[in-house]
Amino acid sequence: MNNYRIGLIGLGGMAHSHMRWMEEEGRYTIVAISDVNEAALTERGEQLGIPAGKRYRDFERLIADSDVDAVVSVTPNNVHAAIVRACLLAGMPFLAEKPFTRLFEEAAELLTLYEQRPVNGMVGFSYRYTPAFRYARELVREGKLGAVRSFSIQYLQSWGAVPNHTPYIWRFNKDITGTGTLGDLGSHMIDMARFLFGEFKELSAQMRTLVPERPVPATGRMVKIEVDDFVSFQARMEGDEVGIFQSSRNAIGSGNQHEVSIYGDTGTLHASTLNPDQLIWIREEAPGQLVKAVIDVPERCKVSQYGDFLTLLDGAASDSLPSFMDGYRNQQIMDAVIRSSTEKRTIRL
Ligand SMILES: NC(=O)c1ccc[n+]([C@@H]2O[C@H](COP(=O)([O-])OP(=O)(O)OC[C@H]3O[C@@H](n4cnc5c(N)ncnc54)[C@H](O)[C@@H]3O)[C@@H](O)[C@H]2O)c1
Repeated sequence: MNNYRIGLIGLGGMAHSHMRWMEEEGRYTIVAISDVNEAALTERGEQLGIPAGKRYRDFERLIADSDVDAVVSVTPNNVHAAIVRACLLAGMPFLAEKPFTRLFEEAAELLTLYEQRPVNGMVGFSYRYTPAFRYARELVREGKLGAVRSFSIQYLQSWGAVPNHTPYIWRFNKDITGTGTLGDLGSHMIDMARFLFGEFKELSAQMRTLVPERPVPATGRMVKIEVDDFVSFQARMEGDEVGIFQSSRNAIGSGNQHEVSIYGDTGTLHASTLNPDQLIWIREEAPGQLVKAVIDVPERCKVSQYGDFLTLLDGAASDSLPSFMDGYRNQQIMDAVIRSSTEKRTIRL
């Protein structure tokens, strides 16, 4: 079995998780790194034992490095499209963080290129690898809930809430991030709905900025916020399931709370990142007798994101991997959410 030599681009907060996941999985060696921040390059370079010649300020040079077999990209959103574009041009396999791009126009340009030069790519929709969500998908597909009629998905965090006095970081800068909670957390909800139920047919949405201005850390100067920190939408899926979605980073008391409830003719499932190895399943055990059970997720549903990336790199098939096209469709649906909220109307997809 091959061991893959990885070029890691972006060495900030989320890169720590990627480094740990690669180490846990084995079969990955980070051989080159890239960041525009010299201090991060030096610190991470020393930590990983990367020679000075393989520490790049310019990600294009890392992608051109013949010692790199695949790229892992963990930069802010405004760099995502440029990195994926460079990978497509170089024929370089990649795992790129979500959201797929900052703007839908960028995703559309990438699709044109991808159709000419397809490359194995994976997008970091990591909740496909939460065991409870995978088991829920299996139970739905096996018809264990009967026909699914409706569902709800929420993704709540609290770090942007007023008592936290969160300053003006790149996640609030529209030029860098594109959208606020929509791209950050909503992209995961959209991917979860597609993972469970297939394509969206239509949706209507509202986006709100709950904290209108935030201080620049160094100066304390207040900056107007142009991205959402709350988004909600309702949607109809290809099988006519109707769903409601909400996401906020201002939900005080929420840690990292991504939750799905699925309502079928013969039962209900609740799955949550707060309890990732169990599901709540309410079903009729005998006529008229409803039972609520907490079910352990079977081992077969414990697949890791980096295990699936190996599947892709090895050239084998995976029915669950978030692909280039999943990234593109996700961005298309986010664009529909923005248009619906701005134009105050239902958007058909
Ligand atoms: N899948 C998930 O659950 C999940 C969770 C958190 C973050 N993310 C995603 O990961 C990405 C990074 O988030 P983060 O929290 O690590 O951000 P961060 O700000 O902590 O780190 C980003 C790093 O990228 C570097 N960078 C900026 N421009 C660059 C360039 N042109 N070339 C190379 N490096 C560059 C920065 O200097 C910084 O070190 C975001 O897109 C975010 O949406 C995904």
